[in-house]
Order: sequence, then structure tokens, then C-alpha cells
Amino acid sequence: MNNKKYAQSFSFDNGLTLKNRFLMAPMTTKMSFYDGVITEDEKRYYHMRSKEVGAVITAAANVSENGKGWEGELGVYDDKHLAGLSELASSIKVNGTKAVLQLYHGGRMTQASVLKGVQPVAPSSVRALRPNSEVPRELKEKEILRIIEDFKAATVRAIKAGFDGVELHGANTYLIQQFFSPHSNRRTDQWGGSMESRFTFIEKLVDAVTDAAKEEASEPFIVGYRFSPEEIETPGIRFNETLFLIERLCNKPLNYLHVSLRKSDQISQHGAYQDKPMITYLHEHINGRMPFIAVGDIRTGEDAETVLQDSELVAVGRVLLADPNWVSKVSAGKEASVRYDVTEEERDLLGLTNGVWGFMQGMMPDRLK
Ligand SMILES: Cc1cc2nc3c(=O)[nH]c(=O)nc-3n(C[C@H](O)[C@H](O)[C@H](O)COP(=O)(O)O)c2cc1C
Repeated sequence: MNNKKYAQSFSFDNGLTLKNRFLMAPMTTKMSFYDGVITEDEKRYYHMRSKEVGAVITAAANVSENGKGWEGELGVYDDKHLAGLSELASSIKVNGTKAVLQLYHGGRMTQASVLKGVQPVAPSSVRALRPNSEVPRELKEKEILRIIEDFKAATVRAIKAGFDGVELHGANTYLIQQFFSPHSNRRTDQWGGSMESRFTFIEKLVDAVTDAAKEEASEPFIVGYRFSPEEIETPGIRFNETLFLIERLCNKPLNYLHVSLRKSDQISQHGAYQDKPMITYLHEHINGRMPFIAVGDIRTGEDAETVLQDSELVAVGRVLLADPNWVSKVSAGKEASVRYDVTEEERDLLGLTNGVWGFMQGMMPDRLK
């Protein structure tokens, strides 16, 4: 019997129980059809990586047609996606593993070529400081309200498809984060300006989605929120602003908060918060008000135990791409047999077909052999 914390089950306030503390981190697969409908390859990829983790959080799925960020992205913006999403939920929900659909809108982090000639939209007409970024069109108020409705409709689709929850992707520079960021949000109406006003979109979005979940779900259904703790841009989100965000989110009927980090022990760039890793500050600030998911280069059971001193749950991403049986091997103390690197010959065996393989070449070149 494994007495590690990661092996313990975890129950959310609404009664949904995870059989252990590991979640598969949301990872874009770039495997869907051109219109966001899921492919057989994608279902196989998820099926291989479910079973052992407590829950799988899917790749970001776009809630609005003009929120698409890249080719091969999963879609949840139309009822045509329902059948495939139901199959996806079933392929994940094996051996008690729970399925969470990540909901997102790319905002300014996309290109007109991906949107078939349509200009990307964002809170303000400010280009991202990233290669190949384009000047977006500023959203009109009625379009902002429409996007909130799109997130709500996507939540209802997730419920109908049999998912156990949704995660709002407020991280990694996409639209939700763009509203909170003083770099991408220069609005002077109720949606921008002070930190409080830059939170308006998030507040209305979280209220709409949690209300929809409450009204539509007949089984325990969780709504989580993922955030990036700071930005490199100036102006940009700073760690003290993230603590404000967390404070406000703790007062919402959300079921968990999930940080997005490359390294779990990352230190803040903010001079006032450099005594300990960001996850420690975050966990202390949340102070048990909501379950907190940490993430970032977890490779061993000991890494997970360390992170679980500062979180209730832990997300693992890249290790599951290379080894779909990472959880059972770690839990059985067979870490020596974990596959950490992937060779081209193993791509098909591991279900890492075209899109995700290309993405991995950019995101984890050190682990491809
Ligand atoms: C191939 C790949 C795709 C990713 N796609 C997403 C995504 O769709 N949504 C998201 O929130 N994070 C995404 N991430 C970030 C991961 O969720 C995770 O935070 C990151 O990989 C660090 O965890 P790890 O070291 O365990 O892989 C992606 C990461 C990788 C490697």
C-alpha cells in the first residue's frame, strides 16, 4: 500500500472524488480536424493517458469560432462538436479517471491566416510582443458579452458530453488573461483601467460559467480556473496583482485554482516576493479556501510529494507524453523503468501523431531523441 500523499484520493466540496492527486496537465494536441472536431488519433492519445491519473484536463478547446489559436485545435463552439466530445469524455473516463474540458479563447494570440482572413480580436488594439503577432481589433461591448455567452454554451456542451468539469484557461497569455493584463487591456470603459476594472471580464465570466454549471449539471461538476502568475511585458501582470486575482477568485463558487508554471519552484520576478517559490506564496494566500493545483517539471514521485506540501493536487504534463504509465510506475516505486525521452520510432506507439509531435519539438526538444 502506497502511503504517499499523491496516492491519496481527493474530494472536492461538491462531492466529486479523484482517486489520486495526479491530474494530466492540459496539453494542446493539434490533432483535431480543421473545424475542431476530434479525430480517432486524438481519442487514442487520451485513452492511453487516462486510467491511472485522478483526472485528465484536456487540451484548450476554443469556445468561439474567432477564438481559434492554431490549426488542429479542439473545438467546443458548436453543437457539431458534441458527438466527438462525448466520445472524448468516454475515452478518458476509464477506471474512475475524471474528465475536465479546458475552455479557452485565443484573443490576440492568433493570426488572420488561422481565422481564414478574419482579424484577431482582443480587449484593445495592442499587438502582443511575440514573434508573428498581429494587431488585433478591439472588441465591442456586445462582442465581449457574446464571448461570455460562448463560454457558457461551451460549459453546457461539456455537461451534455459527459465531462466532470471545465477549466477556464485564464493563463498563458490568451483572452481571459488579456483582459486582466495592463499590456493587452488599455480600455477606458467598465472592462479596463484599474486592476479592479480589468477583473470585470473574469468576474462576469466566472459567474456565468458557475451559474450554468449549477443550472445544467445533475451530477457533481467542477469548474476550475487556471492562471499565469506574472507576465514579462511592461506594463504587465505582476505577482502582487495575481494575489489580488486569487483573492477575488477565492470568493467565487469555483472548485479549484490551477497555476501555470514551467517549473514548480519558480521564484517571482517581483522584489517583494522572492523569499520562497511562487507556489508557496499562492498556497499560503489561498489558505485552504480552495483546492490548489501546482505544476511544473514534475519528474519523480519525490518531486510530486515536495510540490504537494504547497498544493492539494499536482498536474503532470510532459512526463505523460513520454510515458503514459508514469503514474503506475512511480506509485509502484519503479521509477527506473519510466521512459523520459521519446524517439521518432516511438511516436506512433505513444500516439504522438503529427500535430503534437511538432508542438513537442518546440516545447520539449531536450526530451526528444
Ligand atoms: C505540448 C504542450 C502543450 C500544452 N498545451 C497547453 C494547453 O492547451 N493549455 C494549458 O493551459 N497549458 C498547456 N501546456 C502547459 C502544460 O499544461 C504544463 O503547464 C507545462 O507543460 C508544465 O508541466 P510539465 O513540466 O509537467 O509538462 C502545454 C504544454 C505542452 C508541453
